[in-house]
Amino acid sequence: SNKIAIFASGTGTNFDAIMDAIDEGTLDAEVSLLVTDKINAGVIEKAQNRDVDTVVYNPKSFTDKAAYESALLADCRARDVEWIILAGYMRLIGPTLLEAYSKRIVNIHPSLLPAFPGKDAIGQALDKKVKVTGVTVHFVDDGMDTGPIIAQEALSITEEDTKDEVRRKIQAVEHKLYPRVIQSLLTKEEAK
Ligand code: GAR
Repeated sequence: SNKIAIFASGTGTNFDAIMDAIDEGTLDAEVSLLVTDKINAGVIEKAQNRDVDTVVYNPKSFTDKAAYESALLADCRARDVEWIILAGYMRLIGPTLLEAYSKRIVNIHPSLLPAFPGKDAIGQALDKKVKVTGVTVHFVDDGMDTGPIIAQEALSITEEDTKDEVRRKIQAVEHKLYPRVIQSLLTKEEAK
């Protein structure tokens, strides 16, 4: 099956959702690697619980972004990784990875892009008092959440919703949407 690497900086609920989909047989993929740039990210324990190979880097310990990404690239290539799946990876992807994995890096973002790119998309949406927000899955390019959109799903916000409640709604959508979109990308690829 298709070998993927997941890049994450946070708690890893999307990581778990992808792993669950694989276990349930709705996603035909193998997570060959978890990459994280945060030494204390919650996702590390989730990967260990699932016996997923994990590499943890402090990007500051490299001379520059190219050196950092060359290390990630070597990790991916050593495991024959075909797709890089960003799941809460809070860092721009540079030319080293973009050129090596052209059109094979995918991101999920907690807004209806192009609205609210970058950090704290949920907070940005609440500040603007939008009534509808959502989730976007897109190909990664050299911009901040700017690449071609693959899928989107909208959801409503009510006045009573706290930020935690909006985050729960967003994540519930993400956990269903992301594995489904990944599966469809992998399936299209096989048909070529
Ligand atoms: C997810 O909501 C994802 O959409 C967001 O980080 C969260 C990670 O949660 N990504 C971004 O904001 C990217 N700009 P998780 O660690 O529980 O999967």
